[in-house]
Amino acid sequence: MRQMIVAGNWKMNGTIDETESLINDLLAGNSKNDKVKVVVCPPYTALLTASKLLDGSHISLGAQDMSEHEKGAFTGEISPRMLLTVGAGFVILGHSERRQYHAETDKLVNAKVKLALSTGLTPIICVGELLSEREEGLTEVVVGAQVAGTLSGLTAADLKRVVIAYEPVWAIGTGKTATPKMAQEVHAFIREKLAVIDKAAAEVVPILYGGSVKPDNAERLHRQPDIDGSLVGGASLKADDFIAIINAV
Ligand code: PGA
Repeated sequence: MRQMIVAGNWKMNGTIDETESLINDLLAGNSKNDKVKVVVCPPYTALLTASKLLDGSHISLGAQDMSEHEKGAFTGEISPRMLLTVGAGFVILGHSERRQYHAETDKLVNAKVKLALSTGLTPIICVGELLSEREEGLTEVVVGAQVAGTLSGLTAADLKRVVIAYEPVWAIGTGKTATPKMAQEVHAFIREKLAVIDKAAAEVVPILYGGSVKPDNAERLHRQPDIDGSLVGGASLKADDFIAIINAV
């Protein structure tokens, strides 16, 4: 059976005060449940605060990006080791906002994925098509190329350690969710692509859905056979909503 995961991507939200209050609310309102792994991904500046509050709890910590370099003269960058030593176990890579605003390519994301794995972090690799690409019938072409590109060169053992998030770009922050059927179709397609690389790995890699996941649509999405949880943006900033989504698993 695959691990179900609900991860919160806080994006550029969360001062120290806001982080303390959100984490405390999550810890008070959500208790450990072996059926679902909960991850929160605050901004870099709040990771240490979050890490201290989460220490010994059932909630794991993740970052929203990292450098493809181990260390050195890369002003403004954060290395995977820095994330590990602050208590992060996960790192979101290749989010569409990184691709859109920072010109990240599959090749770059692939380098980050490899470095994350070799450092001991679990990458949550984001893929997803633009609205225009969906309308032109290119969803599988685009998503297939992103899956192949970001996972290029991984061994079967490495592949078993990644998490994939399917996030149709047109559904992110727009309130437009893919229907459970639309999402399931792409998730099944991604699992087929994984099986081409390694059949056993394809069975264990969690594939999360992301894009306007809310308490009222989470259950129907999570019920789909190839949807193994969600990557939640906006709704992860409200403890009650995030907890409701976790409980929907
Ligand atoms: P959203 O963001 O839930 O606000 O649509 C999801 C994401 O970008 O990961």
